[in-house]
Amino acid sequence: MSSLSSIASMLSSSTGMGGATREIQPTTGRVDFPLTVAEEARPPCFSKRIRAETAQAHRITESTSFVKSILRGAVDIESYRNMQTGLYLIYSAMEEELERHCLHPLVRSVYFSALSRCSALEQDLDFLWGEAWRDCLQITPARQQYVDRIRWVGENDPGLLVAHSYTRYMGDLSGGQVVERVVRRSLKIQGKEGFRFFHFDDIHDVKEFKNIYRRRLDGLAMSQTQAKGIIAESNRVFTLNRQIFEELEGSWIRALVKLVPTGFSQRQVVSY
Ligand code: HEM
Repeated sequence: MSSLSSIASMLSSSTGMGGATREIQPTTGRVDFPLTVAEEARPPCFSKRIRAETAQAHRITESTSFVKSILRGAVDIESYRNMQTGLYLIYSAMEEELERHCLHPLVRSVYFSALSRCSALEQDLDFLWGEAWRDCLQITPARQQYVDRIRWVGENDPGLLVAHSYTRYMGDLSGGQVVERVVRRSLKIQGKEGFRFFHFDDIHDVKEFKNIYRRRLDGLAMSQTQAKGIIAESNRVFTLNRQIFEELEGSWIRALVKLVPTGFSQRQVVSY
C-alpha cells in the first residue's frame, strides 16, 4: 500500500465509518491515489447539476445557424441591432419581474443589481437605431412567447425566476464575451458604443463573480421538487432563446433575398 493510500485508510478508520467506506478509482488526472469515501455517492451540488442537466440544451442553442453565422463573423448591423432589440424586450420583462420578487427566498440569493442589462441595452439601441429607437421595438411571435413565459413565472411561480437569471446572465458572462469579440470584428466597430450590453461595469472580476453566483445557487434552500423545477425551467429558457435565434435567422435570410437583384433571385428559384 502506498503511503498516501495508507493515510487515506487511516483517516477513514478514524472516522468510525470503516465498514461503510469503499475505494473509488480517480477518473481524472488530478488525484493520484484512490479516494476513500464514506458515502455511496454524494449528490452533486446544484450549480453542477444545473450545468450538467442543461448542457445538451446549451449545445443545441449554440448550434443554431444564426449563432453559427455570428461566430463565423457573418453578422451585419441589421441582424445585430435586431438581435439586441429582442434582448431588450426580454430583459425588460425579466428584470422587472426579478426586481418585483427580489425579496423572494430563492430569487434574493441570485439577485444582483450589478447584473442588470436594461440601461446598457437602452444606450446600445440609441446608438444602433438612433434616438427614435423606441419606435423600432418590434414584438415578434418568439419574443412574445418568451416575454409571456417570464410574466407567467413572475405571477405564478416566482422561484423559477432563478432559472431565467441563471440561463441569461451566466451565459452573458461566458459565451456573451465571445459573441462581442466576433460581432465587433465583423462590424468593425470600436469603443463601447453599441456594445455596452456585454460590459458589466460593476463586476470587476467576472470569473470570481461566476463562482460567487454558483455558490449562491448551491446555497438555495429548496426541495428536490423545486430544484427539478428550476432545471426544467432553465431548459425551457434555452429553448425560448433558440426560437429567438431561429426567428432571427429567418428575418436575416429574407433581408438577404431582398438584396439579391430580381433576375438573379428568379434564376435561383428556377434552378432549385
Ligand atoms: C454564441 C454562442 C455561445 C457560446 C460560444 C457559448 C459559450 C459558453 C462557454 C465557453 C461557457 C463556459 C464558461 C465557463 O465555464 O465559465 C458557457 C457557459 C454558459 N452559457 Fe453559453 N455560449 C453560447 C451561447 C449561450 C446562450 C445563447 C445561452 C443562453 C441563453 C448560454 C448560456 C450559458 C450558461 C447558462 C452558461 C453557464 C454554465 C455554468 O457554468 O453553469 N450560452 N457558454
